[in-house]
Amino acid sequence: MKLNWKLKIAIVVGIFSLVLAGCSDAMGSMDHSKMSTGNSETPKTTDGKTVKTEVLTSNEFNLTAVASNQEIAPGKTLPVWTFNNSVPGPQLRVKQGDTVKVNLKNELSEPVTIHWHGVPVPNAMDGIPGVTQNAVQPGETFTYEFKADVPGTYWYHSHQDSVNQLDRGLYGSFIVEGKNEDKVDRDYTLMLDEWVSSGMNMSDSGMSGMNHSGMNMDSSSSPSSENGMSNNSMTMGDDMSMYDLFTINGKSGSLVDQLPVKEGDKVRIRLINAGYLSHQIHLHGHEFKVMATDGQPINNPSVLKDNIINIAPGERYDIEFVANNPGQWLIEDHSDNKAASGMKETIVYEGASAGSDQSNASEKLAAVDLTRYGQAGKTSFTLNQKYTMEYTMDLNTEMQDGNTVYTINGKTFPNTDALTVKKGDTVKVRLVNNSKTNDHPMHLHGHFFQVLSKNGKPLEGSPIIKDTLNVKPGEEYVIAFEADNPGNWMFHCHDLHHASAGMVTELKYTDFKTDFVADPNAGNMPE
Ligand code: C2O
Ligand code: CU
Repeated sequence: MKLNWKLKIAIVVGIFSLVLAGCSDAMGSMDHSKMSTGNSETPKTTDGKTVKTEVLTSNEFNLTAVASNQEIAPGKTLPVWTFNNSVPGPQLRVKQGDTVKVNLKNELSEPVTIHWHGVPVPNAMDGIPGVTQNAVQPGETFTYEFKADVPGTYWYHSHQDSVNQLDRGLYGSFIVEGKNEDKVDRDYTLMLDEWVSSGMNMSDSGMSGMNHSGMNMDSSSSPSSENGMSNNSMTMGDDMSMYDLFTINGKSGSLVDQLPVKEGDKVRIRLINAGYLSHQIHLHGHEFKVMATDGQPINNPSVLKDNIINIAPGERYDIEFVANNPGQWLIEDHSDNKAASGMKETIVYEGASAGSDQSNASEKLAAVDLTRYGQAGKTSFTLNQKYTMEYTMDLNTEMQDGNTVYTINGKTFPNTDALTVKKGDTVKVRLVNNSKTNDHPMHLHGHFFQVLSKNGKPLEGSPIIKDTLNVKPGEEYVIAFEADNPGNWMFHCHDLHHASAGMVTELKYTDFKTDFVADPNAGNMPE
């Protein structure tokens, strides 16, 4: 009971409430009954520049999609699209076994949906416009309801015109607390993202200043003015350098919250990549373990130090460390990008004197290698067993009519060939990246898969279970899963520029009948 209370306070202090250094005494007087209201107000700016991520613990939540403005970097306020007025939206925390109800209200000028990234929800709750539901129109509501059976770190985001809607900020974290999970003293969630400081990726008319060949300025000025695949996202996909502000929980540089700890605390950090670039996250000053990836536990993880976590779009990593090195320590992005300097957060020990730790972001450190991390254990699948269905997905980049497109087996969505299965099938998929320079973090909806091999070599350590797997140029992975969740499911690259320019397919159960009827007037944009 006491531990539980402490945990909650840690969450309140760490994420929701304020946390300027030295304010930690304030927590004692906080009314933690606020924690259990599903519908409390979004915390407003307390110091004129800090918006905190609210944590809601309940099993019923209200999320309102609404436009706002947010100071992303010092002096840089951008127009954003939010759930409940801040980016990220509130963290939704539930307990394993809870039936979760989320009432979405759309106060934006464009239709939206919510997808529960990684959560094996029933198909009708997956939030895919035109596939599982009609996009929720301005002024309308939709209720998502599902049972949260699998504990872990997940996230939610709009899946309507998602390359643009995620970019504008329509996302938040979703945590399912396990029934028997070890309690930690501090539980922090860091959502990583990238922004365009000119705001060009976020305004309907923003494309006018960009001059890409092959773009017809008259007809493509609005991302939603066309039939589904927006020209702008295709051409923007080529130039990721426009993302010049990197953020943690919607904040860059000195605006990023600090992470208070006490000596002896057991600290969990949940990393979630909501952006379209990979980040190389380095924890300074501490040994740590990677407890889970994509919410799924790693068997007997070994202790690491000064390894970076290479986190690709859509992926999650839960790391844990013991706060045994008093002082102030950075967690920072080591990726080779000028904007990485904004993706930096300070762990501050109670009573520690100010800023002593230095960035070493230019140092090249070895990345944690999940293909040989942790200890072998019981697995569902092996490379050589018989599978009911076997597929290959050849991921590639091509030019078509002057635009770069991203293909699966030579085709772009919606012309890609779906993977078809029946309930109970065992399915093996070979993912091959033949693109020269693009990573393809592939995300399968509604299922977890086991990673069996990389470049022909079987995995050596812990079984690795994921829903998003980054396949780098020239790499080949074999994955396997059981077709245990009937429906029509997206399988796509989570660099959503690639998805909107073709790299999407579906996993279709031939023995599944949907009663969903797509409304041709809903403006559904599933990718
Ligand atoms: Cu995180 Cu299909 O999405
Ligand atoms: Cu891709």
